[in-house]
Amino acid sequence: MDVLNSIALPQSTEHFHLLLFIYNLVMAMAVPYLALLTGTLLFAVWTERRQEKGRIVHGLRLSRQMLDWVLPTRSVYLFLGLLPALAMVFVHAQLFQGTSSLATSFSALGVLFLIAAGIAAFSYIYAFRIEEAFAGIKGDGAAGRAAEELLASARKSQRRNGTTAVWTILAMAFSFSVAQAISMNPGHWRDIDSVFSAVLSLDVWVWLLLFLSLSAAITGAGILFFQHKRGGPAGEAAAIGVPDGGAYSGSTQNRFAGAERVSDSNGDPGSIQDGKADSARILGEKAGIRMSTVALLVAPLLVLLTLVRLPESAASGWVYVLAAVAVLLLFAALHALYACVRLKRWSSSAYLFATVVLATTALVTRDQVVLHNVTKDHAYVLAQVYDRSEEELKSALGVVAKQLTGEDIYNAKCSACHLFDQKKVGPAYQAVVPKYKENKAGLVAFILNPVKVDPAYPPMPSQGLKPSEADSIATYLLQKLGAKGS
Ligand code: HEC
Repeated sequence: MDVLNSIALPQSTEHFHLLLFIYNLVMAMAVPYLALLTGTLLFAVWTERRQEKGRIVHGLRLSRQMLDWVLPTRSVYLFLGLLPALAMVFVHAQLFQGTSSLATSFSALGVLFLIAAGIAAFSYIYAFRIEEAFAGIKGDGAAGRAAEELLASARKSQRRNGTTAVWTILAMAFSFSVAQAISMNPGHWRDIDSVFSAVLSLDVWVWLLLFLSLSAAITGAGILFFQHKRGGPAGEAAAIGVPDGGAYSGSTQNRFAGAERVSDSNGDPGSIQDGKADSARILGEKAGIRMSTVALLVAPLLVLLTLVRLPESAASGWVYVLAAVAVLLLFAALHALYACVRLKRWSSSAYLFATVVLATTALVTRDQVVLHNVTKDHAYVLAQVYDRSEEELKSALGVVAKQLTGEDIYNAKCSACHLFDQKKVGPAYQAVVPKYKENKAGLVAFILNPVKVDPAYPPMPSQGLKPSEADSIATYLLQKLGAKGS
């Protein structure tokens, strides 16, 4: 998409590091929230449908409560979901400018689906309100019939909105997973060139499964945590402002009902409200425990799988360290879950939720390091272009900057440690430069940011060159050795 490329600005090395920092920040916010949103929407619609089929009671109450937690206002959705996602599109556009990568297009597509899912989800929640408002009205008289008609149409549109929300949020998860798979592996910059090839790519599915498992873990933990935080059944009912049981008991339409069964069985009319909230809570506990257990067992395996599938250029010590931290945090989460379930220490649900979110943050940080590793070389190419354009601008303005040649730089900076045909402090160029013959970007990257290569030598200190200077000296070295070789 050319439009997306044109929002990118020329990029210097400093910008590159700033962008990665923004990426990390934005993802640390967006990924846990979008995972929670995805899990909650899927789960809420699913429980509601199950109640309709008569499999459970109080599914509706539970979905209503959970949606209120995750989507309390539009600004929460905007600041935790949509804006970070937009920032990610910008970061992708910036990092991948000038490559054939479709990461930007897919993340932009993900944002569109996120917007659609948000609209559908808010309409879905709105229909709950209508239903609540009309549920108490009895179905006799013209007013009652009108109310029933309105109620019926509200339910119909709610059904539609629920279905739309589910499919669009899944489409969002898929699009972001494609963007992720592409940006984590330069091989995919070229070979994922359409939706079709994305569907066929194994990596896309691995990333999608990882996202979905994190989303089940976060949602399960979230249900347990929020239910615990809301305190006892009475407090819970008051907090969501559902009219009390008495107002509902006359209505045949009320889908929030069903608590009557509970109250009938214990024969105490005073406990109608308690019974309702209680059985919704038990339903939530069961679901929360199941979801987070399965997800917490599967997620570490998927983390390992993403690690194994990374290309060589993406790997570095930090990638492994952060992946290990994420896996350990997932185990810690399992531990907290155990404390909740077996030891009935429900206060541990706070740790459960926090450790899952922290594990996600560790993973996001790992991905930032991967992104740094795989786009590093390309970033230097972009920085060169930036330097050139800056110099052109300067000379157009009449500011003369003496451009050093490769030979000048060699004499001034490198000859202290390097000779062409003999080793000095550093290795002889003859021995090390030829391996960069087909990879000038790699040589430029090394000169700008030397890394440890050969244990027989001390590490080379950074020479503080500008990208365009590093380019000149790299060209000079390659030319000189090329001429000698031929
Ligand atoms: C203070 C001494 C020192 C200076 C100055 C220095 N280098 Fe090095 N250089 C080293 C050492 C030591 C190594 C070996 C590092 C290693 O193997 O980890 C090295 C390695 C290299 C390598 C081999 C990298 C590889 O992949 O094996 C290249 C290329 C190189 N230097 C280029 C340069 C250039 C170009 C300059 C001038 C801009 C320069 N060096 C300035 C000490 C220096």
